[in-house]
Amino acid sequence: MNRRRRVYEGKAKILYEGPEPGTLIQHFKDDATAFNKKKHDVIEGKGVLNNRISEHIFLKLAEIGVPTHFIKRINMREQLIREVEIIPVEVVVRNVAAGSLSKRLGLEEGTQLPRSIIEFYYKADELDDPMVSEEHITAFGWANPQEIDEMMALGLRINDFMTGLFLGIGIRLVDFKVEFGRLFENDMMRIVLADEISPDCCRLWDIESDDKLDKDRFRRDMGGLVEAYREVARRLGILVENNPAPHKGPHLVRSK
Ligand code: TMP
Ligand code: ASP
Repeated sequence: MNRRRRVYEGKAKILYEGPEPGTLIQHFKDDATAFNKKKHDVIEGKGVLNNRISEHIFLKLAEIGVPTHFIKRINMREQLIREVEIIPVEVVVRNVAAGSLSKRLGLEEGTQLPRSIIEFYYKADELDDPMVSEEHITAFGWANPQEIDEMMALGLRINDFMTGLFLGIGIRLVDFKVEFGRLFENDMMRIVLADEISPDCCRLWDIESDDKLDKDRFRRDMGGLVEAYREVARRLGILVENNPAPHKGPHLVRSK
C-alpha cells in the first residue's frame, strides 16, 4: 500500500488525499458498527459490495441530474470523489415506519407512512447523532434556510428515484440516510450528494417476504449480512456471477 495522506477515518470509510487538488479517495472498510460503535464487527466483503452499490446508485442519480461528489470508481474498495465541505446534518427520508421512528412514536414496523417524511440528525458521535429541527440547524449555523430547502428537495428526488429503482427489483425502500456537502467551484458553491448510499444506510425489505437486506441484519444479530448485500448487488445487476440464477423477471420477446 503506498503512503497516501489520510485525511479522515470514519466508522466504515477512510478518506485519503486524491491525485489532484480538490479530490479525495474514499475507501470502503469492512467494519460494521451500530448504535454509535457500541457494537462493532469486521464483516469480510462488505466494503467491496458497498463500493459497487454506492457507485451504481450515484451514477444513476447523476443521470437524472442529482449533483454528487462521485467521479469514478478506482478499484474494488475505492472511489475518486470531489472534496466537499460536509454539512454536519444527516438527512433521513422515511416511507415506512421502522427503527427509531417506530420506537419514538409507537408505530408498528412496516406501517406505510401517510407521506414521505424527512428528519434531520446532527452529526456528532459524542452525542449519538441527536435528532434536530430546522431551527437548530439554522440557529447554530450548520446550514442556512436555502441549503435546508435544497437538501430536502434533493432528498425527495433521491427518494422518488430510489423507490422506483428498488421496486423494479422486488425491494421496498423503507428509509435511508444521506449526507450533503458544499462543493466550491471557482466563485460558485453547490450542494451535492456526498458520502455513500448502500445497504449500510438504507432499510431495504424484500417485497414478497419482508426479508431484511440491509444493516439491520447486523444491528439485530440476524446474521447473513454479506449474503443480503450480495443479493441487493445481484438484483441491481452489478455482480457478475459464476452461476447466474435463472432469470425470473419479465423478458423481451421479439416478434418475427
Ligand atoms: P433509524 O430508524 O435508526 O433512525 O434509521 C433511519 C435510517 O437511517 C435507516 O435507513 C438507517 C440510517 N442510519 C444511518 O445510515 N446512520 C445512522 O447513524 C443511523 C442512526 C441511521
Ligand atoms: N452508523 C451508526 C454507528 O455506526 C449507527 C447505525 O447505523 O445504526 O454506530
